[in-house]
Amino acid sequence: MEEKLRSINLHKIPNHIAIIMDGNGRWAKGKGMQRVFGHRNALTAIRETADTASELGVQYLTMYAFSTENWSRPKLEVNALMNLLISTLKKELPEFMRKDVRVNSIGNVSQLPKSAQKVLSDVIEKTKNNKKITLTFALSYGAREEIVNAIKNISEKVVNNEIDIEKINDKIINNHLYTFNLPDVDLMIRTSGEQRISNFLLWQAAYAELYFTDVLWPDFRKEDLFDAILDYQNRERRFGKTSEQIDNNE
Ligand code: IPE
Ligand code: IPE
Ligand code: MG
Repeated sequence: MEEKLRSINLHKIPNHIAIIMDGNGRWAKGKGMQRVFGHRNALTAIRETADTASELGVQYLTMYAFSTENWSRPKLEVNALMNLLISTLKKELPEFMRKDVRVNSIGNVSQLPKSAQKVLSDVIEKTKNNKKITLTFALSYGAREEIVNAIKNISEKVVNNEIDIEKINDKIINNHLYTFNLPDVDLMIRTSGEQRISNFLLWQAAYAELYFTDVLWPDFRKEDLFDAILDYQNRERRFGKTSEQIDNNE
């Protein structure tokens, strides 16, 4: 573990890491327990990942906690997840303050139960001046819905002559996404062995490095984040250029 940490190049830390926290249900089933037991045991992984990312100097960490599609899960599971969200945010607020964590959310939060909306907006408000890391929770998030909303809002502005069609570009679209205040994703991690995006940050991950691990989310620890970052640091991000151009800093 110490050796892994030493191998990490602190000058090449991804600025924005996004994580699809998957495998809670399978983790619980493997222990002969209900799926919800897995969700409850996901908190240690979230805490340890956020702490480690922050210590390494990651500026933005975005965690996929609940997708628009997850609303179609059994009501019991959805309720348990919402209650877990509420109790966790309440419990963690002093820790967020102590660790200088700014909390943010993306997604259609108006879909969440009122009590969850309330504690979420409270935590966001209280942590808004914190600086060490921005921890964004994707809640009732779907990238397609996000893009549809952006198109609606931009179209409305075009109709009202606030935006000229010719001026629509990447930046304007960015500014109309839930992530308007976040940079592009550098590294996207998915746990549990599934290799898909599941409607997460489709626009923002256009040039992200993708990292998949078989580890189930409740088992994800410091060392697993080190592995993901080490893997990321061994890749060459070319952004369409040639390897020679990258070597010559062109
Ligand atoms: C991820 O774990 C957590 C959420 C989607 C809320 P899952 O609940 O999807 O666990 P698996 O994939 O069924 O094992
Ligand atoms: C993606 O996981 C959503 C979250 C991690 C919150 P799912 O478990 O819902 O994804 P699929 O449906 O298997 O692709
Ligand atoms: Mg899953």
